[in-house]
Amino acid sequence: MARGFFITFEGGEGAGKSTQIARLAQKLRDKRYPTVVTREPGGSPGAEAVRHVILSGAAEPFGQEMEALLFAAARSDHIEQLIRPALRRGKVVLCDRFVDSWRVYQGATGTIDPALLEEIERVSVNGVMPDLTLIFDIDPEEGLKRASARRGDDQAADRFEKETLAIHKRRRQAFLDIARKEPKRCVVIDASADTETVENAVTEAVFAALDSRSPAEQEATQGA
Ligand code: TMP
Repeated sequence: MARGFFITFEGGEGAGKSTQIARLAQKLRDKRYPTVVTREPGGSPGAEAVRHVILSGAAEPFGQEMEALLFAAARSDHIEQLIRPALRRGKVVLCDRFVDSWRVYQGATGTIDPALLEEIERVSVNGVMPDLTLIFDIDPEEGLKRASARRGDDQAADRFEKETLAIHKRRRQAFLDIARKEPKRCVVIDASADTETVENAVTEAVFAALDSRSPAEQEATQGA
């Protein structure tokens, strides 16, 4: 079976992931890698509908467990409708947030039983895990400033952005802990640097990973 390459982009708020994903997608297409850009929560029509329910804060009164189930349902739909079929067709899939956001936001800074989270994660990802994860690391104070500037004054912070600085600091640490525990999958990117410097670091990490695959794996993602 042809196997594409699955790259996820993780990190706190305002880390500049979207800009870098767009630039990387262009670079990959220029080099004839068939590339799909997507995001979580969202990425399929069903999951995009759930995204709105979660990020608007409409599900917050249901409690953290029920909110987590919505994330999991959205992820499962996204994987089965979009990610798994794209990987089967040899695409490079770039996904803005994935299961590490779940491990950090619902796990490290949530109140849900870790064993329950692990079990729901297993069911929702159903064997699909990233080949490479770039963790965009930035001081949350700086990230939140950027997120607020991007949003403008007329729009309120979303369900998670509005949480305390102390929680955002714990999230930063939790992402770094994941990177330390899974060094083969994760690369930490210093997202406080200027856009071009970050772009160079992203390009280097992605092409190093793509080039380190076997010739058969490399062929699967060329011009598919
Ligand atoms: P964003 O697309 O602007 O980053 O918003 C997504 C928000 O949802 C962000 O605050 C992180 C949060 N999130 C979770 O809490 N759990 C998850 O599993 C995912 C994918 C995102």
